[in-house]
Amino acid sequence: MTNHVKIFDTTLRDGEQALPASLTVKEKLQIALALEKLGVDIIEAGFPVSSPGDFESVQTIAREVKNATVCGLSRALAKDIDACGQALGVAEQFRIHTFIATSDIHVSTKLRKSQDEIVEMAVAAVKHARKYTDDVEFSCEDAGRTHIDYLCRMVEAAINAGAKTVNIPDTVGYTTPTEFGGIIGQLFNRVPNIDQAIISVHCHNDLGLAVANSLAAVEQGARQVECTINGIGERAGNCSLEEIAMILQTRNERYGLQTGIRSQEISRTSKLVSQLCSMPVQANKAIVGANAFAHSSGIHQDGVLKGQNTYEIMTPESVGLNKNQLNLTSRSGRHVIKHRLHELGYNETDYDLDEVYASFLRLADKKGQVFDYDLEALLFFNQQKHEHAFYSLEYLQASSGKEIIPSATVSLNIGEETVTHSATGNGPVDAAYNAIMQIINEDEINIVDFKLGSKGEGANALAQVSIVAKYKDRRFHGIGLATDIVESGVKALIFVLNNMHLADQIDEQKQHISTGV
Ligand code: KIV
Ligand code: ZN
Repeated sequence: MTNHVKIFDTTLRDGEQALPASLTVKEKLQIALALEKLGVDIIEAGFPVSSPGDFESVQTIAREVKNATVCGLSRALAKDIDACGQALGVAEQFRIHTFIATSDIHVSTKLRKSQDEIVEMAVAAVKHARKYTDDVEFSCEDAGRTHIDYLCRMVEAAINAGAKTVNIPDTVGYTTPTEFGGIIGQLFNRVPNIDQAIISVHCHNDLGLAVANSLAAVEQGARQVECTINGIGERAGNCSLEEIAMILQTRNERYGLQTGIRSQEISRTSKLVSQLCSMPVQANKAIVGANAFAHSSGIHQDGVLKGQNTYEIMTPESVGLNKNQLNLTSRSGRHVIKHRLHELGYNETDYDLDEVYASFLRLADKKGQVFDYDLEALLFFNQQKHEHAFYSLEYLQASSGKEIIPSATVSLNIGEETVTHSATGNGPVDAAYNAIMQIINEDEINIVDFKLGSKGEGANALAQVSIVAKYKDRRFHGIGLATDIVESGVKALIFVLNNMHLADQIDEQKQHISTGV
C-alpha cells in the first residue's frame, strides 16, 4: 500500500456551502491558486449544477489550476454529472465526484427508495461519469450511520462500475475514532475488489472528532483525506487540513506517511481563507490560531528559551510563521519591501511593487512600524482594487463625541465621476454609511451583519471591519482594513458595492446572451 496520503481540499465546496455570503468567482480563484501553491492533490471547486455562479467558478478554476486535480460535485443524476463534465472539460486533470446517501434513515426518509434502487443509481452514475473521465470518485453519504453489510455492497458495486476513489463520509459527525477506524478496517477485510480503488474519508466535526476520525481511518488504510482550510464546512465544519497535514508531518516517525502539503504555506493560506470568507479563526485553534505558538506561562517561556523542543513539538516557521516581524518603517526602501514579500512567499508577478510601496509608505506614515500582517493586508487590498474598483473612496471626514450628533461627509469615485454627500447617524460609521447610501441612491441594500475586529496586536493593530449585505436576494460580504475604524467600515461597504456592481454586470451579460440582444 502506498505511503502517500492524498489531500482532497473541499474548502470551496463543503466550506463555501456554510458561509454567511457566497464568494465571488475571483475570490474562489484566489483561494484555488493558494491551495495549488499549498500542494493539495485535489481541489473540489464546487457543485456546478447548483447555480450558474458555481458552474462559472468551477470552470474558471479548472482553466487556471495546473498542478492539482480539479473536481466538481454531482448527485447521482445524469444532469449533475453532465454539468460537471462541461464545467471541468477545460482542465488539465479533472475528477467527477458523485454521491448518494446510503444510511437507512437517508434512503427511506430523504430518498424514499429501496436499497436496490440506490445501488442501481450509484452504478449508473459512476458509469455515466466515466464517459467524461477515468478519474471518478463515488461517495456513500452518511456512511458513518450505514449498516456495514450494505456499505460493503455499495463500495464493491461502485468499484466494479469504475470508481477509482470511494469516499466514506461521516456526514453528520456521529462516529468515534475507534468506531470509524473499525468501519474502514472492515471494508478492507470484506470488500473483494477494494485494492482497485483508493479509500477516502470525509469527516464532519459535530462532536469535535473530525480530525481524530480521519486519522483513525488513515491508520486502517484510507489514503485520501477530505478536509478544509481552518476546518470550515457544514455546521461544526470538516476535518481541518492544516491539522491532519501537520499530524502526519510531525508524527512521521509513528505513521511513516507523506502528503504533498508544503507546510510553510499553511499560515498564509489560512489567513487568506479566513479573510475572504469572513470566518475568523479562534485564537487557540491548533496550528493556525493566533496563540498556537505563543507561550504564556513563565515556566514554559523559560523552558523554550533553554531548548525550543521543551514545549514546542513543531516550529512556527514550519507552518510559515516568521519570527522576524519588525522593523519596516517609512525609511525602508522598495527593495526591502520586495525582499520581505519574497520571504513571505509572494512572487513579483503577484503584485505591482510601485502601488504596494506607495500604500506601504502611506501606512508607515500613519503607524510608524509596519508588520508582516500589514504587508499581507496591503497586498490583499491592492489585488482587490485591481480587480473591480468601480467605486473607490476619495474623501472621508467623520465626527462624533459626547453630546455631538455624529455626522460624516463622504466623497466616492463612481466610475468617472466623484459624488459627495453628508449625513448624520447614530454613530460615525452609521453616519458615513447613510452618506454613502445617499450617494448611490440604492434602497435595496441591507446590512445584515457588521463585525469589528483587529489585525495585529495592541496599539499597532489595524481595525478590520467585516460586513454582510443583502442585495436583490443575494448576500455579499466585504472587508475593510485601516488604522481608523470609520475608514475601515467605509472600505468594507465599498468592497461590497464593488462586488454587487460586478454581480450586476455578470447578470446583464447573461441576460444579453440569453436574449441575444
Ligand atoms: O458530508 C458529506 O457527506 C458530503 C458528501 C457530498 C461527500 O459532503
Ligand atoms: Zn460534507
